[in-house]
Amino acid sequence: MNWQLPLMLAQTDSSRLEELRERTEAISMQGTTVPDSSLVREGTSNPFATEYWFPTQASSFAGEVDFLYMAVFWISLIFFVAIVGSMVYFCVKYRRKDGVIAPEPSSSHNTAIEILWSVLPSIILVWIFYVGAETWFEMRIPKENAEEIQVTAKQFGWLFTYEDGDQTNELHLVRDKPVRLIMQSEDVLHSFFVAAFRQKMDIVPGRYTYAYFEPIKDGVYRLSCNEYCGTGHSKMKTACIVHTSEEDRKNNTKWIEAEKTPFENGQRIYQIHCSGCHKVDGQPATGPALNLIWGKNERMIDGTTELVDEDYVLDSIWYPEKHIVEGYGPVSKMNSFKGILDQKDVDYVIAYLKELKDQSGDAK
Ligand code: CUA
Repeated sequence: MNWQLPLMLAQTDSSRLEELRERTEAISMQGTTVPDSSLVREGTSNPFATEYWFPTQASSFAGEVDFLYMAVFWISLIFFVAIVGSMVYFCVKYRRKDGVIAPEPSSSHNTAIEILWSVLPSIILVWIFYVGAETWFEMRIPKENAEEIQVTAKQFGWLFTYEDGDQTNELHLVRDKPVRLIMQSEDVLHSFFVAAFRQKMDIVPGRYTYAYFEPIKDGVYRLSCNEYCGTGHSKMKTACIVHTSEEDRKNNTKWIEAEKTPFENGQRIYQIHCSGCHKVDGQPATGPALNLIWGKNERMIDGTTELVDEDYVLDSIWYPEKHIVEGYGPVSKMNSFKGILDQKDVDYVIAYLKELKDQSGDAK
């Protein structure tokens, strides 16, 4: 028994909207913090449709996709009932009966019926093809005024780079502004999927792939990787926030390093570059958790111990093969971030690690 169901149904539309608004605000206050994915549910208006049928139609072609799906569903259902129904009826009607040796001979040909059952399905199939192709073209041809957003997928996270150079881990869009996503993978096959937009496209290493859509409804939607890409695949999800205006988005995506504390800058670097493999909740992932490591003596794979200090962090970021903590590697090999993160960035990461340690210490 799903106890959530009656609760969901009891929720009114307006309370769902209110909840969503609060979530959006919580996310914008966190800057680039990736919201708890459990908070990100697609859809806003109809709780039944949201949770138990299709998610909100948040892109320009979502309605057409759903329409075609439902049309095919009903056509299939009608034909299923008609065919199986008449089959059952004739089975019963012409079943073997005592005293009847053979059934009456049936007519071998009926031109009217032959034409009907050839032409009618053909017309339906051509119609399905026509509607499908129309929607498909809309999905595959970018709009002229579309903004371009670079998408980088990697095990196991997302990086979105906007036209003005801002970078975030969540995808920030503006309502009624068409987008052209230019997507690449740093490692293996991933897939971009936002159910609310009815848009999904593979992200293939060594080439670019594209996705086009126009968000038509503001809100917070779930964005996930839809191609099994490793042990962290199920965690490779983030939020897609559709803002009502360009200013609203800018307030959520701009990052001015000088205005932030070293901790905040470090946190941002962590979220963009490290969070795919390193957790800060004490749980090991592809790499060790980072919240308690500062000042700790870490045991290495070769049996030695290393003190986690400034040099250790710098080495781990620039020359990750130098210190491999016991229980990790060589399979989960980390790439060097030399050339990606400079020494100032490393300083921020160090400030972040120090404060994380302090915070975790306080919590005990
Ligand atoms: Cu990336 Cu699954």
